[in-house]
Amino acid sequence: MTEAVAFPQSRSCPYHPPTAYDPLRENRPLARVTLWNGQEVWFVTGHQAARALLSDQRLSTDSTREDFPLPTERAATVRRRRRAALLGWDDPEHNVQRRMLIPSFSLRRTEGLRPRIRATVDRLLDAVEAAGPPAELVSTFALPVPSIVICDLLGVPYEDHDFFEEQSRRLLRGPTAADTEDALSQLEGYLGDLVDRKRQKPGEGVLDDLVARGLQDGGPDREELVQLASILLVAGHETTANMISLGTYTLLRHPERLAELRADPALVPTAVEELLRFLSIADGMLRVAREDVEVGGTVIRAGEGVVFSTSVINRDDAVYPEPDSLDWARSARHHLAFGFGIHQCLGQNLARAELEIALGTLFRRFPGLRLAAPAEEIPFKPGDTIQGMLELPVTW
Ligand code: HEM
Repeated sequence: MTEAVAFPQSRSCPYHPPTAYDPLRENRPLARVTLWNGQEVWFVTGHQAARALLSDQRLSTDSTREDFPLPTERAATVRRRRRAALLGWDDPEHNVQRRMLIPSFSLRRTEGLRPRIRATVDRLLDAVEAAGPPAELVSTFALPVPSIVICDLLGVPYEDHDFFEEQSRRLLRGPTAADTEDALSQLEGYLGDLVDRKRQKPGEGVLDDLVARGLQDGGPDREELVQLASILLVAGHETTANMISLGTYTLLRHPERLAELRADPALVPTAVEELLRFLSIADGMLRVAREDVEVGGTVIRAGEGVVFSTSVINRDDAVYPEPDSLDWARSARHHLAFGFGIHQCLGQNLARAELEIALGTLFRRFPGLRLAAPAEEIPFKPGDTIQGMLELPVTW
């Protein structure tokens, strides 16, 4: 077994796993890493083991447990005291929350949103075209697309986007623990007021449906509504925005793959799946064992932490030959970019629809799109577990 490496690490190239994980990739299916507080935890590297562990209910997502592995001091400050709705709960509580939301995020429901997503994408690209070239694509396109779509779906006023985008940014990447805590309180205060307004005057979004349920016996109380709104709003825009920005950057850095895509737009859904695998932007899932669990001949003891680097798992060469190359011909299905098991991403249908429309339309409408700065100088998100571009200067 290799000496413990620190987790998480920054990537040195925005679309490859951190090079510091390279020695760990030799140790499939399990290696060891050390967290910021010195806690040593398991680091899952094998695809098959990851699927087995993520669907094993003896592993818990309860972040308030003393032994739960948290990737940063900032995350620990917030999540030791308060667990996220859905993601922080095990069954049966998790199942009660999830069942309330499944209809709103079903494939049928999200397919029905495509015309509105297309209209949003077109409108934003009209503005980019009118104002440029050049353009900064994170603020003008990658972030607003999912932000507008999730606001529309949840029933959150998009006028408030500067506020909640800023709080999400501080929540995921704020400078200090106190700042992260403050961002969460501000977001919760804002969503609490919104829930109260919806109680008085119901509207048509997913949050309005939840608020209506909350008025019935056994429905979610105000605190639960705020926690549900909070995860849906943050997870609903930040991740997809990162996939759009990093996906665009990656395609511009792989001109042959981009040419194939342009020659055959029917490839877009396949390409989105391969990009999800290749980029693995949610690069860290966290669990703690409630009981001893055996996997691949190793026993994970009760109380031990387990972290899953999706970028490493999605490049397991036993499942994906030549895993470090971007390849539309492979079947990227079964990648774990959306997780696996009971917590598998609730918004994956929505995310796929947004990515297919955003990337497909961008490259169709801007055939000459290229980076407007040297690729190595364009800043991307450091450390932590959510990856994406901080800025994306382009021209055409
Ligand atoms: C490309 C974009 C996205 C990626 C890569 C992504 C990734 C993930 C991953 C890896 C998980 C599982 C975490 C774990 O098991 O520890 C997850 C869960 C979740 N995601 Fe996403 N996500 C994306 C978009 C979205 C969107 C658009 C929504 C909209 C609401 C969303 C809502 C959620 C929720 C609520 C959970 C928790 C589910 C549960 O615990 O039952 N995500 N996501």
